[in-house]
Amino acid sequence: MRTRILPTIPPGKKKSIETAARLIRDGKLVAFPTETVYGLGANALDKVAVRKIFKAKGRPPDNPLIVHLFSLNQVAFLTVSVPQLFWKLADAFMPGPLTIVLRRSILVPDVVTAGLSTVGIRLPDHPVARALLEEAGVPIVAPSANLSGKPSPTRPEHVIEDLSGKIDAILAGGKCRVGLESTVLDITRRVPVILRPGAVTREEIEKVLKRKIRVARPTRKQPASPGMKYKHYAPDAELIVFEGKRSDVASAMAAAARSLNSRGMKVGVMVEDAFVRRFPDCKTHALGVHFQRAARRLFEGFRSLDAGNVDVILCQGFDEHDLGHALMNRLRKAATRCIRV
Ligand code: TXA
Ligand code: MG
Repeated sequence: MRTRILPTIPPGKKKSIETAARLIRDGKLVAFPTETVYGLGANALDKVAVRKIFKAKGRPPDNPLIVHLFSLNQVAFLTVSVPQLFWKLADAFMPGPLTIVLRRSILVPDVVTAGLSTVGIRLPDHPVARALLEEAGVPIVAPSANLSGKPSPTRPEHVIEDLSGKIDAILAGGKCRVGLESTVLDITRRVPVILRPGAVTREEIEKVLKRKIRVARPTRKQPASPGMKYKHYAPDAELIVFEGKRSDVASAMAAAARSLNSRGMKVGVMVEDAFVRRFPDCKTHALGVHFQRAARRLFEGFRSLDAGNVDVILCQGFDEHDLGHALMNRLRKAATRCIRV
C-alpha cells in the first residue's frame, strides 16, 4: 500500500483534512498529530477498521484503545453513568492531554476496549486533530502511531519510519507540543487512579478534585491497565538510566561512558545541556533543563541515537514530581537497567 503524506499548512490544509476525514469514514487508517504524540486513527465505530490498527502496529489484542472525540456532547453516546467528577475534570482539562476511563455503552465495539467494560475518552487540543475529528464526524480510536514496543512518534518522520506502506495516510503536522502520551485516569473506582502518568499531573488533578487520588504502580503482573504490562517506548540500543543527585549522576554517567568507549562500544548519551560537554566521545542528545523540554525531546532522542547506531544509551533520570513522574515512568519502561548513584 502507498502511504499518502497530507500537508497541514495552507493552502493544502483544508483539502488534506477533507481527504483524511473521508479515508477515516471509509474504514482506512490515517495517522495524525495530537498535542501529545502522533496517533494512528480509525473510525471507532467500525470494528473492521479498528482491527487493522492492531495489525499495522503489531499490537497485542488485549490492549484497549483510546477513543478521541471532538466534543463532550459525544460522551453520553459512548458511556453509561458518567459521574459528576467527570464534568469537573472535563471543565479543567478538556480539550487537552488527559484520557478519562469511564464505563462504556454497548455502542463501543469490543475490539476497541479489548473486551473491558470501560472505555478511555480523550479530547485532543491539537488544531489538526480537532479539525479531523470535526470533519470526520465520528469518534476516532488512536493509539500512538508507532510499531508496538517502539518509542512513540513526535514527528511525522517517525511515523513514516515505522508505518510507511502499512497505513493509508499521514497528516503531517510538525512536532508535537508535549512529546509524551496523555495521562490516563480511571474514575470508575471509589478513588480515582492514574493508570499512566502524563502531561496533566497528579498535583493538578488533586487540586481540581480537592482530594487525594492514587497512582497505579507499574507492574507486569495483574496490571490495572492492560498497557502497563508491556515493555514500551524502547530504543533498539540497550538503555541505562542513572538516578540520583544531578552532579553525581553526571559524573557516574561520564565514568560509565569512558569505560564503555574503552571497550569499543558506541555510546549515546541523553543529558541536560550543561553536561553535554562531558561526553566528547559519545553521540549526545541534549534534553534541556526543564521537564517540558525534556518531555518534547525524550522519544526523539531514542530514535535519533538508534539511527546513529549506538550500542548503549545512557540517560539522566528526573526528579519525580510534576511532569517528572511521566518522564521516569517512560524511562523505567524502556530501560534495560536503572542505576541509583
Ligand atoms: O496521548 C495519547 O494518549 C496518545 C494520543 C495518540 O492520543 N494515544 C496513546 O494511545 O498513547 P496508546 O494506545 O498508545 O495508549 C493507550 C493506553 C494504553 O496503556 C491502554 O492500556 C490504556 O491507555 N487504556 C485504554 N483504554 C483503557 C481502558 N478502558 N482501561 C484501562 N486502560 C486503558
Ligand atoms: Mg502507545
